[in-house]
Amino acid sequence: MKSIKERNLPDVLLCADGTRVVSPEQWPRRRAEIDALLSDTLFGRLPNLPFTWRCETESEGDESYQAGKSILRVVRMDVTVGGKPFSWKFFLSLPKRETPVPAFLMLMFTRKLPADTVPVEEICDEGFGFVGFDYQDVTSDDGDFTNGLAALFYPDGRRGEHDGGKIALWAWAASRILDYLQTVPEIDSRRIYVTGHSRLGKSALWAAARDERFAGGASIQSGCSGAALARGKNGETVEKITNVFPYWFAPAYAAFANREAEMPFDQHDLLALAAPRRLLVTSAADDAWADPDGEALGCAAVAPVYALWGLSAPAERADIPDSIALLDGQVGYFRRPGTHCFSRDDWHALFRFFR
Ligand code: GCU
Repeated sequence: MKSIKERNLPDVLLCADGTRVVSPEQWPRRRAEIDALLSDTLFGRLPNLPFTWRCETESEGDESYQAGKSILRVVRMDVTVGGKPFSWKFFLSLPKRETPVPAFLMLMFTRKLPADTVPVEEICDEGFGFVGFDYQDVTSDDGDFTNGLAALFYPDGRRGEHDGGKIALWAWAASRILDYLQTVPEIDSRRIYVTGHSRLGKSALWAAARDERFAGGASIQSGCSGAALARGKNGETVEKITNVFPYWFAPAYAAFANREAEMPFDQHDLLALAAPRRLLVTSAADDAWADPDGEALGCAAVAPVYALWGLSAPAERADIPDSIALLDGQVGYFRRPGTHCFSRDDWHALFRFFR
């Protein structure tokens, strides 16, 4: 594997005017620069339109839900963007506890509310609330920008070079749900973590990056354009991802196909936007497309940023075993044997890390 040094990453602490960030007080300025870079060139900016939101409980589970240990609520989110309305549903599963619980907000690949592809009962037994929505209930996973939230932001279905793609829209939806979660008394609003798998791991990272009310985030095998470094990447590349999924990103991103070395950022910059909050990156050993080594090095490359606060991230290693759990720092890294999937083992890493 190529070392961090050999990859010649842009210096995450170096401001555009050449000054170097050496203290937490100086970080917001650099943070704003990185946010602007990624907003212009990677995920894109959503048009700055006024919006409103309100939530309505659609149904509550009965007493037998999770043997009476937890409450179930299906909620409808009604938003307007630029005066035009759209709604989607999400669900909450909250363990009955005396004090507010930390919670995971998950962007999910299932339309079933409550989801049966997520170990929701186990999550609640571990003392976490679970909130989930189907990403395609927000807008479709394709190049059609005339449906759902996309149609509100892009009335004619067309985007400019730096306009936000589908990942930006899914992340925006997560932030609206976070607006609501701040008002839920059963949830500890200071401990809400956003998570997702693969393309939704990329989306979770962008949601955590943009919305500092998230106490942190966990990307599960987010790979290319997620946690994995682009320079020196194995498996999927900027060329491949922008050929097949151009609509996830700002159109401008495609200009860096086969020109990763010229990008003004790399993926450690995305991870840096989570600092100093809690960040967990996970990989599957057989997930060569995502590039587990590139994901681990992304974590190591963000260490200088967390060090501003005296917080730690996993150190760079030349060889990483198929099973490793580095869960003690403010940035965690976890790898398990097996293929691309948000598995039970990954959830166990989340429990340990965010406890
Ligand atoms: C494709 C894509 C990946 C993505 C994955 C997924 O494989 O190339 O970038 O992470 O889909 O979302 O499952």
